[in-house]
Amino acid sequence: MPDSSDSISDIDILQQRKKEGIRIPLNNDVQARESSNYLEYVKLIHNALPELDYDGIDTSCIFLNHKLGAPIMIDSMTGGTPDATKINSRLGQLAEKYGLAMGLGSQRAGLRSAALAETYSVARQAAPNAFLIANIGGAQLSKGLSIDEINDIIEMIKADALAIHLNPLQELVQPEGEPKYKGVLTRIKEIVKVLDIPVIVKEVGAGISNEVAKSLENVGVAAVNIAGHGGTSWAGVEKLRAEIAQNTIKTRIGELFWDWGIPTALSLIEVRSAVKIPIIASGGIRNGLEIAKCLVLGANVCAMAYPFLKKADESFDNLLLFTETLVAELKSTMFLVGAQTIHELKASHCRITGNLKEEISQ
Ligand SMILES: Cc1cc2nc3c(=O)[nH]c(=O)nc-3n(C[C@H](O)[C@H](O)[C@H](O)COP(=O)(O)O)c2cc1C
Repeated sequence: MPDSSDSISDIDILQQRKKEGIRIPLNNDVQARESSNYLEYVKLIHNALPELDYDGIDTSCIFLNHKLGAPIMIDSMTGGTPDATKINSRLGQLAEKYGLAMGLGSQRAGLRSAALAETYSVARQAAPNAFLIANIGGAQLSKGLSIDEINDIIEMIKADALAIHLNPLQELVQPEGEPKYKGVLTRIKEIVKVLDIPVIVKEVGAGISNEVAKSLENVGVAAVNIAGHGGTSWAGVEKLRAEIAQNTIKTRIGELFWDWGIPTALSLIEVRSAVKIPIIASGGIRNGLEIAKCLVLGANVCAMAYPFLKKADESFDNLLLFTETLVAELKSTMFLVGAQTIHELKASHCRITGNLKEEISQ
C-alpha cells in the first residue's frame, strides 16, 4: 500500500497496516464506482486486411533502455508484511518469465528490519533479470527521508529505477495520514540529481494533470506513471479503514472522494500532449484491448495492480493463465488493427468519442 505515516513507530502496527493494504482490496469492492477509466470512449479502427500472421506478432519493446517481452508492468503494490512474501515472490517469477517490469510496494517498512526487507527482496531473488522498480512516498520526502535511506531502499531489491508515489487523496482519508506535500517537488529534483538510476513519479489512482507532468519533466524525472481514476480507489480503501477505526470525519471524506480523480484515458491524453518523457498508463486497465488503446493514445508501457494481486493471491498457475490471456488479448488487438510490432501499434489511429472527447483540454 502507498506509504503514508511516520507517526506509527511500532513494527506490529505497521505490518498490520500493510496487511490491511492487501486484504481490504482483496476482500471488498474498492474499485471506482461512479466513473470509469474512460477507455470505453476510445475506438480502435478495424483492419479487414491486416497483411500479417498472428504468429508473427512481436510484443517486445524497449522501456528506459531495458528490453521487455511485452509493454506490461506489474504496478507497485506490496511488501512490509509476511503476507507479501508469497505475493512478491510469485509476481517476481512472473516478471522474470515474461520479461515484464515490476514495481514493489512502498519500501520504508523494509528499512525497519532485515525480516521486513526480505518481504521485498524476494522479488529480486525470483527475478534476477527483470526491470524492478523501488518505491517510496512523496509525503515521506517532505518529512525528510534521507538520500542514504533511499539508496538502502534501492539496494534492497537492486532496483533498476526508483518510483516516487504521489498520494495526496490517500493521505487525506487515511486515519493516520499526514497530508503534507510542501517541498515535495524540490526533493524530487534533488533526488533525480544524485541518483544514477532513473526516477519515475507515479500517482496511485487519481491521475496526473498536464501541469503536474510538465513540472516533473522540468526537474528531470525520467518517466511518469499517470495511475488515473477508474480502477482501485485509495479513498475507498482508506474509507473502510477509517470505518473500522470509527473515525467519522475520515469515513465521510473517503465516501465523498471515492471517485475523485482524472480518468486514466483523459490523464494519458493530456500528459502525452504536454511532455516528451515516457508514460506508463495505469488505473483500471483490465485487459489486453485496453492496453492496446493506451499504447495508441501514447503510453509506452501499461501497468496494472489489483488484477495481478488477485491472481497472485490465488495461485501461481492462475497468475500465469491470467498473463497469457492478457498477452493473447493484446496480440489479438494488434492482429485486428494490422500492427506487427508495438511500434506499429503505437502509430495506429483511433477515434475519441463521448465524455472523453468533450472533456479533453476543457
Ligand atoms: C494492494 C495495492 C497496494 C498498492 N500499494 C502501492 C504502493 O505501495 N506504492 C504505490 O506507488 N502504489 C501502490 N498501489 C497503487 C498501484 O500501483 C496503482 O497505481 C493503482 O492501484 C491503480 O492500478 P489498478 O487500478 O490496476 O489497481 C497499490 C495498489 C494496490 C491494489
